[in-house]
Amino acid sequence: MTPPAPDPSGAGPDRRISRKTLLRAAIAAGAAAPLLTTGTVALARDSRSAGTSLTPTPLCDDGDGPTHEQMEGPYFKPNSPLRTDLVTPGSPGTPLTVSGYVFGRNCVPLSAVLLDFWQADASGAYDMAGYAFRGHQFTDATGAFVLRTIVPGLYPGRTRHIHVKVQAPGEPVLTTQLYFPGEPRNGTDALFDPALLMNVRDSGGRRQAAFDFVLDVAGVPGPGEPTDPPTEPPGGTWAPGRAYAAGDRVTYDGTAYRCLQAHTSMSGWEPPRVPALWGRA
Ligand SMILES: [Fe+2]
Repeated sequence: MTPPAPDPSGAGPDRRISRKTLLRAAIAAGAAAPLLTTGTVALARDSRSAGTSLTPTPLCDDGDGPTHEQMEGPYFKPNSPLRTDLVTPGSPGTPLTVSGYVFGRNCVPLSAVLLDFWQADASGAYDMAGYAFRGHQFTDATGAFVLRTIVPGLYPGRTRHIHVKVQAPGEPVLTTQLYFPGEPRNGTDALFDPALLMNVRDSGGRRQAAFDFVLDVAGVPGPGEPTDPPTEPPGGTWAPGRAYAAGDRVTYDGTAYRCLQAHTSMSGWEPPRVPALWGRA
């Protein structure tokens, strides 16, 4: 493990006043407190409607001319393993599931998009010797992804965050970071951007987070497009990314269900939405 160190801020002498700088100032002053304390933020899926153009997910820069290396921080490593679960059994930390979709700016979900995640462990350290809490995956046919990990620890100079590179086939890489609502350091971290807040809820000692990426590419509609994705993770024992066998019982949003057909769950396949997979228990 490498001792924690702050990410560079990239702040230069000719610092400009950006929209984000103003937002940070507002947050520091408490103006945006409701956004940060409720844990509920708007997801791109909620903004989708005919003829709507989505706002691309911002790069995680500070608006002051960062270099590529400053955007990704000093701890990125190429060649991460292909996996959706970054948790090694026995490693400490609060379990966290991050799920969502990747859309093009024209609201079309994008399949086969590469998502490469990396983050600090529970103590705030990045694994530079191996690949702990590093992994890449691809969105499925509905544009969905699910990441199983832990809540990353804090380290000096930064608020709590998860790094990610997102790339649609043949398109430029979006390097950015995801943030947690209600973090005291959100108001003082030079890289923090409210547009990169996840929608996070506590679920029996676990955290369930949702975030939809919007890439600045034009997607092509396909048969796998979700028509009515969930607005936020509801409570219950059901979770995406799990292998369920026929007969397994779960609860979802206050209702009990029985698995009718073995499958691996994913966002968009919540029990009420897929009667072929789940019946009322
Ligand atoms: Fe970092």
